[in-house]
Amino acid sequence: MAIRKIILFPKEESALRKKSQPVRVVNRYVKTLISNMKDTLADHPEGIGLAAPQINVHSRVIVVRLGSKGDGEGEPSPILALINPEIIESKEPKKDFDGCLSFPGLFADTIRPHYLRVKGLDEWGKPFDRVFEDFDAVLVHHEIDHLEGVLFIDRVTSVNDFYHLKENEDGKMVRVPMSLVKK
Ligand code: NI
Repeated sequence: MAIRKIILFPKEESALRKKSQPVRVVNRYVKTLISNMKDTLADHPEGIGLAAPQINVHSRVIVVRLGSKGDGEGEPSPILALINPEIIESKEPKKDFDGCLSFPGLFADTIRPHYLRVKGLDEWGKPFDRVFEDFDAVLVHHEIDHLEGVLFIDRVTSVNDFYHLKENEDGKMVRVPMSLVKK
């Protein structure tokens, strides 16, 4: 087990903004990186995805837990690692839930594709070409953005789309628009 520290915005924004480099060989270094990223994501049950730059490694590797519906709903599957993920088709842009482990407690609605065809290498270095749909597409798109230094706040079109989550009297998580949150 090697849990890494997740880089936070805005303190370490420059590391989050740096573009990541392609993985050339899936060697022991890359396998250790993937293992550390999986352990780090597993240590954050509130998160469903992590990109290498979030642990200050600028290699094109992401890990995701597919099968979530956003807002903590759904039953996410085991953690999947993607190396050098490259979008080859992107469609069905829609507004959906967005959040990031580098922005604890902050959420927003963003417009992202709900159909994403991606190619790359799996964690054993084998090429893949697969389609992600619905919230899985949103998640993979968010993580690939990180490899370019693009953050979810860049995709928010109105300040009114930012919110925090708060538990109400019934124990349900409800949205509190950021404009109503007392500083
Ligand atoms: Ni993120």
